[in-house]
Amino acid sequence: MDDSPFSAEMIAGMDRLSGAQAVVELRRWSIDSLSLHPGQRVLEVGCGPGDMSLVLADAVGTAGAVNGLDNSRVMIAEAKRRAAHHPQVQFDTGDAQELLFGDSDFDACYSERVFQHLDAPELALKEMLRVLRPGGRVVVVDTDWETVTIDHPDVPTTRKILNFVTDVFTTNGWIGRRLPRLFRDNGLKDVSVTARSLLVPEWDADTDPSAIGPPFFVVLPQAQERGVVTKSEADQWLAELEKLAQEDRFFASLTMFGVCATKPQ
Ligand SMILES: C[S@@+](CC[C@H](N)C(=O)[O-])C[C@H]1O[C@@H](n2cnc3c(N)ncnc32)[C@H](O)[C@@H]1O
Repeated sequence: MDDSPFSAEMIAGMDRLSGAQAVVELRRWSIDSLSLHPGQRVLEVGCGPGDMSLVLADAVGTAGAVNGLDNSRVMIAEAKRRAAHHPQVQFDTGDAQELLFGDSDFDACYSERVFQHLDAPELALKEMLRVLRPGGRVVVVDTDWETVTIDHPDVPTTRKILNFVTDVFTTNGWIGRRLPRLFRDNGLKDVSVTARSLLVPEWDADTDPSAIGPPFFVVLPQAQERGVVTKSEADQWLAELEKLAQEDRFFASLTMFGVCATKPQ
């Protein structure tokens, strides 16, 4: 991420998503499910630009504390800038799979749309559980990339591109559906699951190169390199999608899952 020339676009994309109804509702569900109280200490793993860390900070008040962690220096710099007036929030760079905190340091742990990027999501959950006190609550939210729908007349090419996004482009394309099993395999109690679909009924290709998920100018060249689609298939597919958008006939969606549980005493 820190080597990408598109980090500003990535932050802008995360900000757009933060305002989407599906994400707002998932975050509300997460805050309710974590049962936070004033004075508690909370960890957000993969905090990005830190907006949810500030929401978590509101829930634990000035007597509480929130630690946000991300492996991107760019994200942590932006998060620190946004949290300048929140002394109870601290941000650090670090790896989700090797947390720099002590055992049982936190009353609650939260992670949103991070496990999809990790080489070892099982390890990240084990680390979150290590730093969580017994009886503490944990929430992980993530996308299942095979739930993406794009209404496009060219069904075979759409399937090829979306399968590429799920199976190759994304490290853990099925993480959304895997989360409940991951939680149960770790002996967690009171496992509850929710889901929200992000609906995208319109798309401005000029201002938003993503439409849904990773930008097409990143995905399509990689799909071509891997021989998934030819250049002419990719160009024609994208041109048709842009035409649908211009004609106000665009529709896409994706589903994100949230899982909450308690660490046994
Ligand atoms: C899609 S963004 C989500 C950011 C934030 N959670 C949100 O919902 O807006 C994924 C974040 O995970 C971070 N990330 C990826 N791999 C990581 C790792 N191994 N350890 C910590 N953070 C990681 C990225 O830098 C990025 O900020």
